[in-house]
Amino acid sequence: MKIVMFSAQPYDERSFDEVLQRDYVSRGFELVYQKAALSLQTVALAQGGEAVCAFVNDQLDAPVLETLHGYGVRAILLRCAGFNHIDLEAARRLGLFVARVPAYSPEAVAEHAIALILTLNRHTHRAYNRVREGNFMLDGLLGFNLHGKTVGVVGTGKIGLATARILKGFGCRVLGYDPYPTDEFAALGEYVALDVLLAESDVVSLHCPLSDATRHLISAASLARIKHGAMLVNTSRGGLIDTRAVIAALKSRRLSALAIDVYEQESQLFFHDRSSDIIDDDVFTRLMTFPNVIVTGHQGFFTVEALREIAETTLHNLDCYAGGRSCGNLLAGNA
Ligand code: NAI
Repeated sequence: MKIVMFSAQPYDERSFDEVLQRDYVSRGFELVYQKAALSLQTVALAQGGEAVCAFVNDQLDAPVLETLHGYGVRAILLRCAGFNHIDLEAARRLGLFVARVPAYSPEAVAEHAIALILTLNRHTHRAYNRVREGNFMLDGLLGFNLHGKTVGVVGTGKIGLATARILKGFGCRVLGYDPYPTDEFAALGEYVALDVLLAESDVVSLHCPLSDATRHLISAASLARIKHGAMLVNTSRGGLIDTRAVIAALKSRRLSALAIDVYEQESQLFFHDRSSDIIDDDVFTRLMTFPNVIVTGHQGFFTVEALREIAETTLHNLDCYAGGRSCGNLLAGNA
């Protein structure tokens, strides 16, 4: 069986080849790696494949899925947790098998969120540059103790819970908001309404999925209710934040700092080397001018453990599809 992987990076090839050779030599799986992201312009690269393996910025809307189906593709393997970028209704209509990797390493993303909080707070990014230029002045690098501060976790699923556990270790008061509360989180923190979380938290960290209900959860209206001087961290999906509203809140000092690992328009930028290009996204370039903003290019998941888990689960999902066995990670299809 031929599987065409889109948006394939060298590290994807290494981790998938390793698991393929270790566990699936006898299965006759063949992986074809394509650097291009999947879109209507590139979908022809999937011809001859029975399965397609896609990542977060691959386009999986109805026209792309219909074209894939026309080529004989019957399985879509998402090598990510989020599935906001696939039209599941269209996939079901076409009878496609769709599976994802629901929890490859919640700690990888949680630890990155914490790294962003600590970096923003203690200005490590600025200190690094200063020291390398022989400037050992401290003025401008003043932080605060995380111990004793209130941190709001929006979305207390796997990653939110892992984040809350670490924050508890720092001695933070942890607030949570989630329409589906869990006992595990309740044992660590306190569930409150979203407005209360926004009003009381010194740091707000987003860990809920992107959906119609959560798009622009952070908007001009919610920023008007956020604690004055709060820090906002988003390692979930860019669409949770109205970036223009956040820029206004940074300018008015309502927000003291922002860290994002995801960005609304990230597909044009992230996972590409754009260092020699003129970036024509004025919203993004405005963000880059703030000393109290950190952007990382969707690397929350990027640990050795997570890459291994992604490859193992994706190939396990494919094996379920190939063998007609039930698959616990199914989003659409009959297996
Ligand atoms: P999960 O499904 O375990 O948890 C998500 C939680 O959000 C659930 O408890 C759910 O009830 C809650 N939720 C749903 N609607 C909500 C709302 N309106 N307000 C507040 N909470 C709401 O998912 P997991 O594994 O914790 O991942 C969370 C998100 O992190 C994913 O959806 C994905 O977008 C993002 N992610 C980012 C990565 C990165 O590299 N930066 C890597 C992996 C995931």
